[in-house]
Amino acid sequence: MTGGAGYIGGMATSMLLDAGYRVRVLDDCSTGHADAIDPRAHFVRGSFLDASAVQEAIAGCDTVMHFAGKSLVGESVQKPDLYMQVNVGGSAQLLNVMKENNVKKIVFSSSAATYGEPEEVPITEKSPTKPTNPYGLSKLKVDQLLTQRASEDGIAAISLRYFNVAGALNTSHGWLSERHNPETHLIPNVLKATPESPLQIFGTDWPTLDGTCVRDYVHVVDLIEAHIAAMKALVLGKHEIINLGSGDGYSVRQVVDAAALVVGRSIPTAEVGRRAGDPAVLIASVDRAKELLSWTPTRNLLAMMSDAHVSLR
Ligand code: UFG
Repeated sequence: MTGGAGYIGGMATSMLLDAGYRVRVLDDCSTGHADAIDPRAHFVRGSFLDASAVQEAIAGCDTVMHFAGKSLVGESVQKPDLYMQVNVGGSAQLLNVMKENNVKKIVFSSSAATYGEPEEVPITEKSPTKPTNPYGLSKLKVDQLLTQRASEDGIAAISLRYFNVAGALNTSHGWLSERHNPETHLIPNVLKATPESPLQIFGTDWPTLDGTCVRDYVHVVDLIEAHIAAMKALVLGKHEIINLGSGDGYSVRQVVDAAALVVGRSIPTAEVGRRAGDPAVLIASVDRAKELLSWTPTRNLLAMMSDAHVSLR
């Protein structure tokens, strides 16, 4: 589990352990948190950019889940080389170490950012990939690398293209939730908003029903269930790409209204200008996930919000 101290990797570690798997975590805790790692997991503290740490972590493993990487769209625009070096270079090296150790299966955390501004929604896996920022480009390049390695080296790979992940999980070692610094994601920011520091709504003039951006939110527990299904669906010599979302879209204002219901008070907001690089609408087609993984998300926006809210208390 690369990135097993992060928001999604930490929860995936716990859920896999609960399901009876043995898990080894590789993380340098540069953005993750050591206390998010389930104490039942074997923890190798190190970077996935360090071949010897990767070697130590993956020796004897059956499957790699690759969550580690840089994931801030804004930062990627400032430092495109860093995103290529870490996300693409690091993943290429990880694949090399896997090959040396005869580890042939990988589930990769890809992103809806690989599609860029969609020409039509819902977005299917056949939609054009025209990323609008270096983060999305770096994820796309890793997807392409996996296609190449599946055909040349016969590995089994699945890229899961996440839409907007939210929610939290109560584990035997406490609640796990988003702890990014800085926090850029909508739902944690909505829940943290105060009259002194209101939620900034980025743009109210988008071509949508209420003028705010529409996104497809998926509960992190549903998302991880899809990873476990993906792990079981890996086929040697094949690379599959699968969208993970809910298939539904909610505007920023709808998210704010849902949060007010959950927390029982109004959410202080301030309307500000558009954020650079935001597409107006991103909604996934999840037909392929249903077909290949027999997976359907079951936790709705209110559940994501309510779990995230409880985890903050
Ligand atoms: N938003 C606000 N105020 C905030 C934070 C967000 O109005 O304080 C808006 C954004 O403008 C956007 C929506 O809420 O319209 C969702 O924003 P997030 O930052 O929560 O998520 P993004 O859609 O920007 O990003 C997600 C993933 C990225 C991925 C991207 C794909 O977090 O990793 O989808 O485009 F790259």
